[in-house]
Order: sequence, then structure tokens, then C-alpha cells
Amino acid sequence: MTQQPAPLDPREELRELTSSVRAWVEWHGDCGAELLPVEDSPEAVLGSLERRPAGPKGRQRPAAPERTHAASRPAFEAPPVRNVPERPAPPPPAPAPPGVAPAAPARAAPTATLEAPPLGLQERRARLSVLAETVKNCTRCGLHAGRQQTVFSRGDPGAELCFVGEGPGADEDAQGEPFVGKAGQLLDKMIAAMGLRRDEVYIANCVKCRPPNNRTPEAPEMASCMPYLHEQLEVIRPRVIVALGATALRGVMGTTEGITKVRGTWRLYQGAIPVMPTFHPSYVLRMETKEVRGMVWSDLQQVLKELGRSPPARP
Ligand code: URA
Repeated sequence: MTQQPAPLDPREELRELTSSVRAWVEWHGDCGAELLPVEDSPEAVLGSLERRPAGPKGRQRPAAPERTHAASRPAFEAPPVRNVPERPAPPPPAPAPPGVAPAAPARAAPTATLEAPPLGLQERRARLSVLAETVKNCTRCGLHAGRQQTVFSRGDPGAELCFVGEGPGADEDAQGEPFVGKAGQLLDKMIAAMGLRRDEVYIANCVKCRPPNNRTPEAPEMASCMPYLHEQLEVIRPRVIVALGATALRGVMGTTEGITKVRGTWRLYQGAIPVMPTFHPSYVLRMETKEVRGMVWSDLQQVLKELGRSPPARP
């Protein structure tokens, strides 16, 4: 995960290219994406969000044009390598008193800090490698007992875009990588449709061990494991996070809002990083409707716009 990818053999490169094109065509064919309108500018939507202060100085996310690809971010003077943060899990949102509308949006999980300057690529790799090792040995919750292996992440630690899922399934547990099963194949199609390579984004889950029978992770399991994801996001500091499904949204933002209600609307992680909630690929697979795929595609188009990209033209 933390090693530099070896240069691609030309045949391997061609194979990757072919599979990207195929994924692109399949995804677009499945969702009739070309017919879908792009929703309001995320900047406009973000502008209307309250940008919560992330610390005493009330740090805000820098304007999009000032941000460059992570690899070209300023190098960072190495702080001491931090291991798993022994920080308490965020408290559950307090119920609103009767007759009072609950405060919205829910508070970002407060375990990570985005106060420090962004890290250089080498430092990110080093930090993530230490963290992955810690995760490998983790016994913080009962899920460790049933795992074949931990599933830490896949992709580029210098990525601008980070996808967050729920937790490993059987395929991921067997292979030690997130999103390698059926849902992962669909996610790959979505990524290819966005004009990105799968190794160009970073993908991680809320929990790193497979829940039995692929059930939703329970609250104590999430509380035990989320500090790892917060640390990953803190290290990578992507420009945009996509929360895949309700559990991912709950983990990242600490909100229990329904995914159907909030998908397609921007949230702000730690007052700094835009988060786009969308449906989980497993849900998309279960639903098998153009409408659901179209909604996901419309969410991803907003993400592309926020990144200053447009979807590639049909090959
Ligand atoms: N679903 C997830 O949420 N994560 C995975 O890694 C695989 C399936």
C-alpha cells in the first residue's frame, strides 16, 4: 500500500486502458448518464454552508483554485510519527428537546485535526505505513476475532479524491484490499466514468475488519475503528471525500441523517473538506435501476466539478 507502484508494462497499461474504457461505457450505458443535468455548483452550495471553525483560528478550506494536486502540495516538516490516536470516540448527537428542530448539519467527528500543514508524499506514506501496521495488530473490538486479515486501504496517498465505504466483505477479507468484490467492480466503473484511474484515488472503510455476515458495523465497533479512518483522512487530506452510503456518512460526519435524504448535498468534514454523500455501490447493485445509477452519477458529477474536472467524452 505504501510502496511506489512499479512502472507499468505497456501490455499491462493497454489492458488497464481497455478495462477503463469498458467500465466507462458500461457505467454510462447503465445509467443513461449523458441525459442527466449537473446540479447546482458545489461552490455555491458550499458557500451556503456554515463553515465551522476547525480550531481556534477558525481555519477554512482554501478556495478550490488555490489547491493543487496533492503531490505538488508544499512539503511538510516531519512531525513525530503519531500512532493510533488514543482519543475518545465522538459522543452520539444529543437528541433535540421536544418541539425544537435538531441542529443541522451534524458535527464532524472531532478526532482528527486538519490544523497542521499538509504532509509531503513521503511523510504520508510513512505515517500510513505505521498506521496500517497498528491496524494489522488491532484487537480493539470483537471484529478482530473473525477476520482473515485487516483491510486498510487501496490507492494513492497523494489522491485528491477519497472514497469511504462501510467495511470489508468476504472478498475484501480474503484479499486484504477494500472494494475488490462486486461492489468494488461497480465502484471501479464509477471511477473510470469520472475519467480517473482506480489507483489515482484513495479508498478506505470505516471499519477495517469484516463484520460477520456482512452486517452493518455496530456503534462500539465504529467507535473503536473510526480513529483510524480519521487519521487516514488527516494524513491524506483529500480535496473531496465521497461517503458511500449511510454508514460511511455516519462515520465521517457523525450524522444519522438518511442517505436518501442527504445524498447529492455537500457536507463539510472538519470544517475543511467537502463531503459528498451518495449511495453505496452495493445498494446500487441491489436496486438495479437507471434512476438510482443516475442519482449516483449526478452526485459524482458534482464531485468532478468541485475538483475542477469534467467527465471524459465518450471514447
Ligand atoms: N463494501 C464496503 O463498504 N467496503 C468494501 O471494502 C467492500 C464492500
